[in-house]
Amino acid sequence: MATEPLSIERSKSTLRIENDIETLAGSDYTQTSDAIQRYAYTPVYRNTLDYFTAALKELGFDVHEDCVGTLVARNRPAGEEVFGIGSHCDSNRNGGKYDGTLGVVTALEVCRLNCDLGLDLPLQVISFLEEEGSGFGQMLLGSRITAQRVTEEELKNRFRAIDDGRSFWQSALDAGYQPERWRESIHILDDLVGWIETHIEQARVLQDTHNRIGVVTGIAGYVHGDIWIEGRQDHAGATPMSFRQDPGPIAAEILLELERLARVEMGKGTVGTVGEIEFSPSLINVVPGRARISLDVRGTDEDSFRGVISQLEAFAETAATARGTTAKFIQRQTLPATPMDARIVDALESSAQTAGEPFMVMASGAAHDTMCVADHVPTGMLFVPCTDGISHSPDEDASPADAALAAEIILSAIRKLI
Ligand code: GLV
Ligand code: MN
Ligand code: MN
Repeated sequence: MATEPLSIERSKSTLRIENDIETLAGSDYTQTSDAIQRYAYTPVYRNTLDYFTAALKELGFDVHEDCVGTLVARNRPAGEEVFGIGSHCDSNRNGGKYDGTLGVVTALEVCRLNCDLGLDLPLQVISFLEEEGSGFGQMLLGSRITAQRVTEEELKNRFRAIDDGRSFWQSALDAGYQPERWRESIHILDDLVGWIETHIEQARVLQDTHNRIGVVTGIAGYVHGDIWIEGRQDHAGATPMSFRQDPGPIAAEILLELERLARVEMGKGTVGTVGEIEFSPSLINVVPGRARISLDVRGTDEDSFRGVISQLEAFAETAATARGTTAKFIQRQTLPATPMDARIVDALESSAQTAGEPFMVMASGAAHDTMCVADHVPTGMLFVPCTDGISHSPDEDASPADAALAAEIILSAIRKLI
């Protein structure tokens, strides 16, 4: 275990990180100039992988993409132990410069420092695809494929491109990958002795407590799903109120019950959100025949956040029956609450202490690819602040200097851990 202090020029790292981030915000790397819009298998995503490939090759790394397009770069031959670092470089559909990309850029900076300082630590960078679910509506899709938390049926049929309806399978084939080998994606984790991801915090805690770094102790689990309410389509003027089987008021009751369950009944940090409501038809003068409301329920206490889903499911059925309709919950996907590895958390904390800048330990409410890596490898995460907690928006802002600090802390932690 190496303990002598590192002599790092943070201003140099800051400039390099800033240059990476600003370059990747340019027109070759986003589908629209109004936001960062980049998802798997698009030409701008290809350009982004090419950018990281060139930068990592310059540092002497072997770079390849696995059967579905996960970028993997390592400075040791296959079979030798390496420490994993990285994140994702796809964006939200209306995204900013930092969510995900800053984590891959910070990993790249760790590799650069490793070369500059002649440390020659064994490293492997991974950039997962489709963390945001912007291409196929499935959050953490790339890392879930790696962790085998999907089925072949889902990849072949159920997961479809939001833009053109092609299956994930067909989209991967069309982009030149080999989805039929998806089960081999797990092997990108084979040689990892640990994994650390850097990400913007996506909340205001670090900013408002004047901390520059968050050492993550655990990530909230989640359930994503929809409640489908089947009513009866009728004319909005001609149908008396007592004749209706309108799914609209039931959707409203469910939404309010979700808030009550998360906030009052379960507590313990459980959160619940309805982000999408859809009526069909969706017309001003028609009582809709059907409604769909999405559910995003999360928490670090498994019983509490899963309890919200089961109680809401029962509530929806009762509320629907009372109005002569039916309601059914259909789960899209779920991951359990994921604690970080105590040894990695300790190493990150002591390295943050040595770096001499304010930091805190905290839980992550947002989901991250690290949840899927943690099934197989001891993991940790660092957060850097983002202005006013804004993310999933072109207004996202974060400081390259904080990312440079994160790179220094990660490098120092890896030296302690291997
Ligand atoms: C990931 O982007 C999330 O919504 O947690
Ligand atoms: Mn992200
Ligand atoms: Mn995100």
